[in-house]
Amino acid sequence: MSANAVIEVGDAPGMQGREFTWTNADFDRVQDLIYRRAGISLHDGKHAMVYSRLSRRLRDTGHQSFREYLSWLESTDGAEWQEFVNALTTNLTSFFRERHHFQILSEHLKSKSATHSWRVWCSAASTGEEPYSILMTALEALGNRPHFCLMASDIDSKVLATAANGVYKAEALKGLSAAQMQAFFMRGKGANAGLVRVKPELKQLVEFLIVNLIKDDWPFKDHFDVVFCRNVMIYFDAETQRRVLERIHRVMKPGGILFVGHAENFSESRDLFVLKGKTAYERR
Ligand SMILES: C[S@@+](CC[C@H](N)C(=O)[O-])C[C@H]1O[C@@H](n2cnc3c(N)ncnc32)[C@H](O)[C@@H]1O
Repeated sequence: MSANAVIEVGDAPGMQGREFTWTNADFDRVQDLIYRRAGISLHDGKHAMVYSRLSRRLRDTGHQSFREYLSWLESTDGAEWQEFVNALTTNLTSFFRERHHFQILSEHLKSKSATHSWRVWCSAASTGEEPYSILMTALEALGNRPHFCLMASDIDSKVLATAANGVYKAEALKGLSAAQMQAFFMRGKGANAGLVRVKPELKQLVEFLIVNLIKDDWPFKDHFDVVFCRNVMIYFDAETQRRVLERIHRVMKPGGILFVGHAENFSESRDLFVLKGKTAYERR
C-alpha cells in the first residue's frame, strides 16, 4: 500500500488502498454528471476505469479527494468541465474501421451527377481516422477536385486536436493500400521517422468542431447527404438514442445515408430511418 493510501468506510468494493478515497457515492455522482453532460451511461463495472482516469484530474487541479473535486467542478462552469468529459470518453477508432461502410459510401457518391455538392458530417470523429477515411473514399470516388464538404466533430477537445494535427504512427496505416499511403500521407524523416502526416489536399476538405450530440445547439444551417454516427450511441441509453436520432433526422436530406456502429441497431426507429445495408440506414 502506498504511504498516502486511504481506506474509508463506504469505499467501493475492490478499490481500497488507492491514492484517493473512492466511494460508491463518488461513483454515483460521476455517473450522474457525465450522463447529464454527455449522455454517457457509465455502468457499475466501470469503477476502476473512472477512478484511474479522474485521479489525474485531482492531481492536476490539486484536490485531495473526489468529494472535494466533484463539488468544486459542480460549482464552476469553467474549463475543467471539458477536461472531465475528455477524461471519461472512450476514443477507440481506426482507419477504414468497418470497411463495408466505405464501399457503400463510394457507391453512393458515384450515384449522383459530378456537379452534386456533397455535405457530409462525421459526428463522433475521435482522433480523425474516420473523417480521413471518408475523405480518401470521396477523392477516390469523385476525382481530385470534388464538391465535397466534411464536418468532423466530437465532444472531446483533446481528440479533435489530434485529428486536426493529422499525424499518426505509421503502423496505423496498415489497412491502407500502397497507393493510398502514397497519395494521401507524407512519411516523417529524422526525428519524425515512424510517423506519417495527412497531406494538406486531404486536410483542407474538412472542418473540425466540437459538437455535443445530446445538446440542442448544433451549429448547422444546411442539410447533410451523409452522416456517420458510429460507435458512440452505444454509450447512450435508449431514450437518449431516440432523441439524438430525431435530431440527426432533422439535419439530413431525405434519401441521405446514416452509418452507425456494428453493435448499434435502430430498427425501432423505422419512422425515421430504413435499413439499407449492414448498419447503414436511409433517411425517410
Ligand atoms: C469509440 S469512439 C468512436 C469513433 C469513431 N466514430 C469510430 O467508430 O471509430 C466514440 C467517440 O464518441 C465521442 N462522444 C462521446 N459522447 C459524445 C457526445 N455526447 N457527443 C459527441 N461525441 C461524443 C467520444 O469522445 C469518442 O471520440
